[in-house]
Amino acid sequence: MSDNKNFYITTPIYYVNDIPHIGHAYTTTACDAIARYKRMKGYDVHFLTGTDEHGQKIQVSAEAKGKTPQELVDEIHMNFKKLWQVLNISNDDFIRTTEERHIKKVQEIFSRLISQGDIYKGKYSGYYCVPDETYVPENAIIEHDGKKTCPDCGRELIIMEEESYFFKGSKYVPELIKFYEEHVKAVMPKIRYNEIMSFLKGGVKEQSVSRTSLKWGIPVPGDEKHVIYVWFDALINYISALDDKDFNKYWPCVRHMVGKDIIRFHCVTWPLMLLALGLPLPVEIIAHGWWTVDGEKMSKTRKNVVDPFKIVDEYGLHPFRYFLLREVPFGNDGDFSELALVNRINSDLANDLGNLLNRTLQMINNYRSGIVPGSSEISPLSELAPEILSRVDEAMNNYSYDEALKSIWEFISRANKFIDETLPWKLAKDETQQGKLDYVLLNLYEALRLSGLLIAPFMPDTSKRLYAQLGINSEPVKMLYENFSWGAGAGTRINKAEVLFPRIDVKAWHKAKAEVSPVARTSEFSSLRDNMKAGVSCKQAEANARVFPSQSTTAQPQPAPVNAEQVNEIGIEDFAKVEMRVAKIINVEEIPRSKKLYKLEVDLGYETRTVCSGIKAFFSPEELMNKRVILVTNLKPAKLCGIMSNGMILAASVKHDGVAETLTLLTPLDENIPLGSKVS
Ligand code: ME8
Ligand code: MG
Repeated sequence: MSDNKNFYITTPIYYVNDIPHIGHAYTTTACDAIARYKRMKGYDVHFLTGTDEHGQKIQVSAEAKGKTPQELVDEIHMNFKKLWQVLNISNDDFIRTTEERHIKKVQEIFSRLISQGDIYKGKYSGYYCVPDETYVPENAIIEHDGKKTCPDCGRELIIMEEESYFFKGSKYVPELIKFYEEHVKAVMPKIRYNEIMSFLKGGVKEQSVSRTSLKWGIPVPGDEKHVIYVWFDALINYISALDDKDFNKYWPCVRHMVGKDIIRFHCVTWPLMLLALGLPLPVEIIAHGWWTVDGEKMSKTRKNVVDPFKIVDEYGLHPFRYFLLREVPFGNDGDFSELALVNRINSDLANDLGNLLNRTLQMINNYRSGIVPGSSEISPLSELAPEILSRVDEAMNNYSYDEALKSIWEFISRANKFIDETLPWKLAKDETQQGKLDYVLLNLYEALRLSGLLIAPFMPDTSKRLYAQLGINSEPVKMLYENFSWGAGAGTRINKAEVLFPRIDVKAWHKAKAEVSPVARTSEFSSLRDNMKAGVSCKQAEANARVFPSQSTTAQPQPAPVNAEQVNEIGIEDFAKVEMRVAKIINVEEIPRSKKLYKLEVDLGYETRTVCSGIKAFFSPEELMNKRVILVTNLKPAKLCGIMSNGMILAASVKHDGVAETLTLLTPLDENIPLGSKVS
């Protein structure tokens, strides 16, 4: 049936009375990722989105703004089009329900259902929720302060009485139940499937499908004082957007992605309409969960509506896309917080992926003059690759975006670990190990090349930038997974390494945010310190710094190595004053004016810190990257060469005249010990 390598995916069409927010961005991004993924799997994909422009809501909004509904929708639908451009959405079509092609199709379907007796004229009265455009059945009404309110949105209901056309969809309910029994994945996830099944088994009433109370809609053909109910109108967009040729090609493989708020319309009303029309039912209806913001429901009155334009502006497009799809298991509700986004950027993007790219390219540059060496030996990475590809495929077939991304990141982490296991900088120094070094570099490069393909559906531009650095001109989103072959990257000339995702300084971020909203985030500041201290000159700092420069700006030069006998004894309580923890070096930067210092970024698990450390003479940045070290965490911060250093890395050294000759870092024996573990 649908396995003919065609794939039709739709978003809901969004109401234009609202500004686009994170919820709309989420649904559409999720559709975009699956559309791009399927294209890279060789499918012929059709991806539709659009806007829902009729109905009472729009009419009311327009009146409030002193515009005609048409003026309003012409203006506001552009916000959605703009957002999809900004989010790099690859939709093939954008349908507006005010378009001729749509109006024609809706009227044609309405007439057909009248003529076959499935739509008839009657009278209707009931409680109606204007914002939700829906009648609320008596048994679902919630009494609140003596008012009858909507069970979904909590707003007050009005009584509507009108002559109305009715759709006898109920007569197709047994057929629909049978279909769902035979197609248990037609509604996903399972919890929504069960919800729909029990709703269907509870009985479905005939539905009113026209209104006389409003003007802004598609007229019932031949009875123009009625306009067609906005949901009946809207659902048909999935068909009206297809011309005959596309209809034959894509309709049998249609998938609707929706938020859980509108599953009854999609999993009951719409399939009943399709059954009445004798058309195939959707292959899958996928319902995702609800986003809250900092733990609260998003609403205009709370003023906490997350504006995707702003987030993209502040944090970049791809971190936002990545976050949306990585943060919550698909189908579940999720909570949006900027801090969570910042943490994802720093850990997954800047650290895991960014560093793998940087380290690999630097080594290929340094050791192989920028040409990827060849090697045909099997590696742990080449062995893991097919498994990751098939796990990603399974996850994507279940719309488990978070699982797909977890698998991809498992692969990226494995590649980072491969560096730590093989120590390429050591191999580089050994003439007899050059073949092994080729093997390591080739496999790292291939891991990146595959990662670029794997992240492409989620972060199309990032994958392109990554490929450019790898020296590949083609765009990953235009490639096919099946054409990837491990080892084929040998011989490529790489380009200069550039930062893919700049790290966000969490402290500075907190500070900036606190200035914006002093109350909102104070609880998260408890671990922050005041690091605003008077600076000292670079030269002075260098002089003071010696090996471990961060302890104090007025530190005395260290004495020469001493014997145990000469040490002043301290009590355990004094020792206990020193807080030491396991940390990981996640970034190494040169300080242009300093011969001795590196600016290090270390990850303590619960926070990251900047530490200036006088170890430049002993290690290359590659040697330090991702090393676990012991950090003294409660030293007073000190400014060195203009940089606030916030902690001290422990090392053992042999000194001559107070100057270290050899030096080794202290590191925990068990490399799995969690970051931030206390040393005592
Ligand atoms: O319902 N979290 O349009 P709509 C996650 N026009 N997703 C959210 C969300 C949130 N907080 N808020 C909205 C309509 N969404 C109709 C659809 S289809 C034939 C007609 C997403 O503008 C989610 O996908 O109210 C939800 O289903 C959709 O926006 C509703 O958009
Ligand atoms: Mg809604």
